[in-house]
Amino acid sequence: MPRLLLSLLLSLMLCLPVSAQEMSGADRAATGGAQTLEDILARQRGEKIDDSFRREATGNADSAAGIAAQLGTLGGASDPELWRALRYGTADITVSSGGDAARVLMQDGGMKWLAFRDGPLSVKGAGLLGGTLVFLLLFYMMRGKIRIDGEKTGRTVTRFKAIERFGHWLMAGSFILLGLTGLVSLFGRKVLIPAFGHEAFSTLAIASKWIHNNVSWAFMLGLAMVFVMWVIHNLPSRTDLKWLAQGGGILSDGKHPPAKKFNAGQKMIFWSVILFGTSISLTGLSLLFPFEMPMFAKTFAILNDTGLAGLAGYGELPTQLAPHEEMQYAQLWHAIMAFVLMAIILAHIYIGSVGMEGAYDAMGNGEVDEQWAREHHSLWLEEVQNREGAAPADGKATPAE
Ligand code: HEM
Repeated sequence: MPRLLLSLLLSLMLCLPVSAQEMSGADRAATGGAQTLEDILARQRGEKIDDSFRREATGNADSAAGIAAQLGTLGGASDPELWRALRYGTADITVSSGGDAARVLMQDGGMKWLAFRDGPLSVKGAGLLGGTLVFLLLFYMMRGKIRIDGEKTGRTVTRFKAIERFGHWLMAGSFILLGLTGLVSLFGRKVLIPAFGHEAFSTLAIASKWIHNNVSWAFMLGLAMVFVMWVIHNLPSRTDLKWLAQGGGILSDGKHPPAKKFNAGQKMIFWSVILFGTSISLTGLSLLFPFEMPMFAKTFAILNDTGLAGLAGYGELPTQLAPHEEMQYAQLWHAIMAFVLMAIILAHIYIGSVGMEGAYDAMGNGEVDEQWAREHHSLWLEEVQNREGAAPADGKATPAE
């Protein structure tokens, strides 16, 4: 009888924690009360789980076997208890050196960053580039190359001076390299390792990172040159509205709305390159010099104060960011801006090469046929010719503005 009572008591004691866990919906008996695989998977799926079973399991400082007491090799506290106390901000820690980043022992945002980087960022970024390529291909099939409608005159006009072409190609060449090496960094593990193996990818990844870090300076220099040389020609004017109202004459032959040195479409490309390029450069510098250029907490504060964050539907953006969170935001914004600019530039490359007859010459040798200039930039041609007197009939170039 006493043996029966004892076993009944024992089984009741053993059952108690199990029934408490059943009430919270998870059976953690198998892990001794620690989190289960289901908990971890749910956390990785971004689901909210009741983590009080961990949050509160940070040792008991008041008990006889408190965290300062000597019990075994770990003292009164176990490593997991200490890490939990750090995670939930209840541990009392002081780090005397190493800067702000050294104070962060654990940063939960890393999982969210990784999930966004490998999920929406990669999927939507690839979709945007793929979609743009398909759109351009369809556009080419429907519209074909935009030809010079009139007879070529054989006389040329200098459209871009050597220094302008140098600035353009410095920016363009470096941007293409940065785009390709950036894509290797983002997609390499998923796409290139399965295709070429770890060894080959390792070499490519190291080279890509080196190119990406160093060529960035050439891009910034090219961007600054292009801004200084062309900003004056890219200020909005009334002609732009007329040009836009006629769709730039791009959709049908024989329609050529007047334009100055740059038409409204080119001005949009210019300002996208300047704004997105600057944003990519700033976040790139922040990534190049880790923890030295935190900029998101301040930007978020400005967006909150001006009400822009609320207007965009983001409510209050966080203004207290750990140094690592600053880096994570910098990486994501850098990549988002780069994807948008790459898509815009794909369209630009199309129209500057296969899409339009005579356009490439402007950036190739700097000379365009007078007829091309008349059709696409009539007001600019008039300005140049008025400045230089009548158009020379000997085939010699009219100097650029
Ligand atoms: C193979 C690549 C590229 C080609 C063939 C190309 C071609 C051209 C051409 C022909 C022009 C002069 C258009 C005109 O005479 O009106 C031009 C202008 C320009 N390019 Fe590029 N380009 C390339 C890459 C890039 C890249 C990567 C960027 C920026 C990151 C860029 C930014 C610009 C800007 C801002 C202008 C002035 C505005 C405009 O014409 O749209 N280009 N490009």
